[in-house]
Amino acid sequence: MLENFWYAVELSHEVGTKPTPLRLLGKDYVLYRDSQGRVIVLDNQCAHRGASLALGWVEGNCLRCPYHGWSYETDGQCSHIPADAVGTPIPKRARVLSHPVQEKYGLIWMFVGNPALPADRRPPIPAFPQFEAPVRPATYSRHVFDAHFTRTMENAIDTSHALFMHKGAIGASNAPQRTEIDDYEVTVGEYELAASLPIKVNRLNGVMRFVLQQDDPKAHKSYRFALPNVTYSAVQFGRYKIESIMVHIPVDDSTTVVKSVNIRNFLNQVPGLGHWLDGNTAQVGNKIMQEDDVVVKTQEPQIAPYQDMRQELLVASDATLIAYRKLLKQYAGPSVLPKQAISVEPAIG
Ligand code: FES
Ligand SMILES: [Fe+2]
Repeated sequence: MLENFWYAVELSHEVGTKPTPLRLLGKDYVLYRDSQGRVIVLDNQCAHRGASLALGWVEGNCLRCPYHGWSYETDGQCSHIPADAVGTPIPKRARVLSHPVQEKYGLIWMFVGNPALPADRRPPIPAFPQFEAPVRPATYSRHVFDAHFTRTMENAIDTSHALFMHKGAIGASNAPQRTEIDDYEVTVGEYELAASLPIKVNRLNGVMRFVLQQDDPKAHKSYRFALPNVTYSAVQFGRYKIESIMVHIPVDDSTTVVKSVNIRNFLNQVPGLGHWLDGNTAQVGNKIMQEDDVVVKTQEPQIAPYQDMRQELLVASDATLIAYRKLLKQYAGPSVLPKQAISVEPAIG
């Protein structure tokens, strides 16, 4: 539904010279690194008799099929058929598709759409300079949702469920049944949106309670969302900040793998404590994901209804979702080339 975009499809450190399978939007691909360490993405089905190339192995720059040993170059052209006599020409059709790929911010981005679209007309990869050389150690997490990726994306930028549904994991306000969200502004760019709002937690749980010893009235949480499949959040208490990128890998219409990279800007001088904190953050993150999963998979319709927002009843605190759906409405659809930029505008209206 969102074509001609760079999709974040994998964490960089998870792809090496052993082929890695990828199922994206109902199609199968294989990722590997060639002899220079460049990431290559090919269609996964061998042109010969359809075996999975992900079961094969890498030889230099090439990927060898495990069944009859056909070998594919990085551009997808077959260059060796072991069963053919030496000198036999390789059929032109002995090839698989090779897809544009980039590596940035510790993530692998694959271009999904019209391969003829010139590179300068492709929407850019969203900028996350703080993840360029992330402070180590970062933590990573992975969760499989039985839901469409528009729903997991929305869940990640849904501001009002956090204190209500996750109060056990995050902490509670003094009046647990009152989780009002003040009006907040959403900034909408060409392909993304951003919002920031105060955190009104009066009884923090977990790591932040330990780090801060007390609640911070200036604490705030920032959200970002970037088409087609990335969300970002930052929790800031004074000068302490934890930032996360989440990639929502759309496996098919009812499955989304969400992978996240989390960095922090404190406790880097105290590795033991930092390690403990990361463990705790991961634990809380997993609990939150599980709580989300139980509810998100029950949402109907399965795909966030962006064509007609009246299918749901969005209110003021849903400003991020309203903005997201407007972007979806602008860009989603079969084979739609990116339209003109839209100007920055208030999201609600
Ligand atoms: S199926 Fe791949 S070489 Fe035959
Ligand atoms: Fe949640």
